[in-house]
Amino acid sequence: MAENGVGPLERGLAVLTELAHTPEGRMRAGDLARRTGLARSPVDRIATTLERLGYLRVEDRELVLAPRLMELGAAYLRGSAVAGPLAPLAERLADTLDESVSLAVPDGDAVRFVVQTVRRRALSVAFRIGDAVPAERSAAGTLAAVGWSEADFVRWRARREADPEDAGFPAVPRPRGGRGDEAEFRARVAEAAARGWAVDDQLVEPGLIAVAVPVTDAAGAFVCALSAVSHTSRHDTPGLVAVALEPLRRAAHEMSAALGARPAPNRSPAERRDPSKAAKSELGPEYLQSLARGLAVLRALGDTPGGGAGGRDDTPGGMTLSAAAEATGLPRATARRSLLTLEQLGYVAARDGRFRLLPRVLDLGYPLLSGLTLGELAQPHLSALAARLHHSASMAVLDGTGIRYVARASAGRIMRVSISVGTRFPAHATSMGRVLLAGLAPEERAARLAAADLAPLTDHTVTDPSHLAAILDRVARDGYAHVTEELENGLQSLAVPVHDRDGHVVAAVNVALHASPSEPPPATVLPALRDTATRITADTTASFTPPPA
Ligand code: PHB
Repeated sequence: MAENGVGPLERGLAVLTELAHTPEGRMRAGDLARRTGLARSPVDRIATTLERLGYLRVEDRELVLAPRLMELGAAYLRGSAVAGPLAPLAERLADTLDESVSLAVPDGDAVRFVVQTVRRRALSVAFRIGDAVPAERSAAGTLAAVGWSEADFVRWRARREADPEDAGFPAVPRPRGGRGDEAEFRARVAEAAARGWAVDDQLVEPGLIAVAVPVTDAAGAFVCALSAVSHTSRHDTPGLVAVALEPLRRAAHEMSAALGARPAPNRSPAERRDPSKAAKSELGPEYLQSLARGLAVLRALGDTPGGGAGGRDDTPGGMTLSAAAEATGLPRATARRSLLTLEQLGYVAARDGRFRLLPRVLDLGYPLLSGLTLGELAQPHLSALAARLHHSASMAVLDGTGIRYVARASAGRIMRVSISVGTRFPAHATSMGRVLLAGLAPEERAARLAAADLAPLTDHTVTDPSHLAAILDRVARDGYAHVTEELENGLQSLAVPVHDRDGHVVAAVNVALHASPSEPPPATVLPALRDTATRITADTTASFTPPPA
């Protein structure tokens, strides 16, 4: 029966891909069934399973991709020879050129962006990490096609015939004014082969131009394309080539050298125990164990050096079947079935008995989810907390000597605390401000306090610097702050920190209560608040950040 076979993994990935290609990563189960051609009950079981894994949530009767899903794309990026090791060099080039710079790896007959360094202007040009563009519509893809065989061109032709509107590439607009034919593309590819660089003169959209050079490995094989991107209001294509080509070539040369000498990736702790057993016994037939296990295998492959390099079988690294079974705690036969399914679906490549992830893994929602702001990530968690406690919940970040609200959920009470996103308050008199100040390094904390106007806001506001310093020390030790009527009479609030993957405090979340004896004592609210902060922290750390230069 399909439950133990490859079916659920394949269908689960189809559901994720379908959701990932919607503008907001959400769809009703019925529509998903129609779009994927699946019956409703398998879609429901897939949704139950993915919800349990933290990859989906149900909101207003729609299935919504959840930030935790980024850990799949992050697994690919972590093992990538390009994303981590070359990102600092791309960043440096972007500084030199003062233009956006990107790195794209081949993915079938497309290229997929794995590094993006954006120069923000009013008119900023950027794909997101994980976005794919058809080879014929980018400078990067033109370079990737230099190495194509006739079989590759056959596949390219079939894709173009099946999808004349490029609907399979949600990141690119529909081609306007007709698209070039095969002869035109082949001529561009031949020219790129002869010159060693390629241009994109508004192939993606009007105004957008790019010049790209190849980055090759020690054997001279194409690994990725390095592009500088600009806009016709700043340069024409010959002008961009004139300023960017030499710096691009120098950077590509350094990148080739860096590919040879890259350090082992940061490994995340592998799950050595099969966690899907507990879920299975709890959820019964609604839980698709083979989907959960297949995704566990996919995540585990991210811990192998070279796990995601390039789009072809020309890079070292990868994981053996035994290693994948060991890393996931699964029986060999189960791990093998998952690997073969993933290979067949284009998420994994196998060579010499080793399996590694391919860039297509990024198609599972990564571009969409990695673009969420901290406030957007936090919003569903704050809403859930506010609904559970019947008190408003908020998130804020430090902004100079103050705090700035970035997300908020109100409790729907009559007497409510009316604060909106964007509101700024002095840090010293608020629970979130104290949590944020307490999380700073000592010099930084002292500097902010010295710059602050420690004015009293009520009769209770602590304004004495040494008293405040003692309070902040206690907040740092206890991991929460409780402030009663120091910001406003009648208001008390409790806050805890949200951390990044390095343990730094990046934001604070709070619950606001009336300062009245009829309200619950703050201690009873603390566990739920901490739980919310933990969930938000988990979401923010699911994405991939390249190591600093
Ligand atoms: C390209 O290579 O043509 C290219 C690269 C990055 C962009 C746009 C186009 O953001």
